[in-house]
Amino acid sequence: MALSKTASQTDVSIHSTFASRYVRTSLPRFRMPEESIPKEAAYQIINDELMLDGNPRLNLASFVTTWMEPECDKLIMAAANKNYVDMDEYPVTTELQNRCVNMIAHLFNAPLGESEAAVGVGTVGSSEAIMLAGLAFKRKWQNKRKAEGKPFDKPNIVTGANVQVCWEKFARYFEVELKEVKLRDGYYVMDPEKAVELVDENTICVAAILGSTLNGEFEDVKKLNELLTKKNQETGWDTPIHVDAASGGFIAPFLYPELEWDFRLPLVKSINVSGHKYGLVYAGIGWCIWRSKEDLPDELIFHINYLGADQPTFTLNFSKGSSQVIAQYYQLIRLGYEGYKNIMENCRENATVLKQGLERTGRFDIVSKDDGVPLVAFSLKDRSRHDEFEVSDFLRRFGWIVPAYTMPPDAQHITVLRVVIREDFSRTLAERLVYDIEKVLHELDALPPKQLLQNGGATTTAAAAMLAAKKPSAEDLQRSVTEHWRKFVLAKKTNGVC
Ligand SMILES: Cc1ncc(COP(=O)(O)O)c(C=O)c1O
Repeated sequence: MALSKTASQTDVSIHSTFASRYVRTSLPRFRMPEESIPKEAAYQIINDELMLDGNPRLNLASFVTTWMEPECDKLIMAAANKNYVDMDEYPVTTELQNRCVNMIAHLFNAPLGESEAAVGVGTVGSSEAIMLAGLAFKRKWQNKRKAEGKPFDKPNIVTGANVQVCWEKFARYFEVELKEVKLRDGYYVMDPEKAVELVDENTICVAAILGSTLNGEFEDVKKLNELLTKKNQETGWDTPIHVDAASGGFIAPFLYPELEWDFRLPLVKSINVSGHKYGLVYAGIGWCIWRSKEDLPDELIFHINYLGADQPTFTLNFSKGSSQVIAQYYQLIRLGYEGYKNIMENCRENATVLKQGLERTGRFDIVSKDDGVPLVAFSLKDRSRHDEFEVSDFLRRFGWIVPAYTMPPDAQHITVLRVVIREDFSRTLAERLVYDIEKVLHELDALPPKQLLQNGGATTTAAAAMLAAKKPSAEDLQRSVTEHWRKFVLAKKTNGVC
């Protein structure tokens, strides 16, 4: 379908200009057009179609930053044409990355000497950082096994079943068995005791999450460190820990500075964090920090010489933009410890406002904890008539994007809705969301229970009769939209939540 045609149907006065001046023939959708079009037309067509995307600020499904200061936007635009990998040409950008690595390593209490440089790298996000950290563990373990004359073909990694999909990707792409600790009712993170039970001589590391994607809860890394130290002493192994601090890495140092989860714990050898989550940068930046040089096998590092200095690189891809590195540096120096702390405290307070509002409705159980990533995960107390997927679908109509998903095994019977509180989610929005959720609940209460609907949206006679009796033509429409979204959401696996 030609986009210009769609647009002109919705706004004749503006789009007739483009339709008549520039786009008289429709554009092919899946093939490159034969002829060029004017730049204004290309801009307008794309801009118009993008209007149908959701509003990022109302996307409460995502941890990823959706607002930055205009000054930083300017820096981002100015660096959009710099390829980060051209270190010869852009040595200052490389220097800014190195400063970020060092600042973050200090934030995570890396045991660095006075003039010692930190070991770490900027990545596209936590997923790439996790691939790199996993590769380092795998190679270290293999080298040790080879040196001991032992088999090195069956590496495994121990995680909770609540890990984000990137860990499954790592396991599949790099041929490492994923041994998952199952969740249980009321306990939705990795149990450190069960994790340590799963550790064997082929375990390359145990991955703990600081800020579970599903409910924001911090896993008990300190206890894991204690139990694993004991097991290592008993067995003679030296199984290390990686902390996936994708969300929590920029929260814990500011909200819970006393919490020991980082390099203060001896077995923690590497940590990843998403700069684009609570590091407060737009999508496209993550960090992996290693405890020391010894934890990153040298054969994985490539060396590039620029301006006479050795620049080690360890990344999966080659070219990438520089803007996000520069934006991270901007946030670190602009906000400083004080600024991050203020923002995180504010997020936590807004999460509390939302949580209390939801509790006041009397309709939800809160599944998230007060301490952890500032998010609110909640389940309906009574699911006999309607479920969380329907609440999520109906909220979409008000512009809110609030995901609903089932928990991983063995808690898959629990469904939750999750609202991530980012810096740009204000108290007013929190109150407005509660208000809209209440409206949705009233609408759902007035509708027939979901059991009356069968066969992917086709109503049963009874449901159709009820709908007809209530003369709900708008509701009919709503119902079919709901059903569409419900199927869409159900088709997505829990692991798709990011
Ligand atoms: C715990 C955890 N790890 C890893 C990731 C992947 O992060 P990224 O999107 O930065 O690749 C996420 C994303 O939400 C996450 O929550």
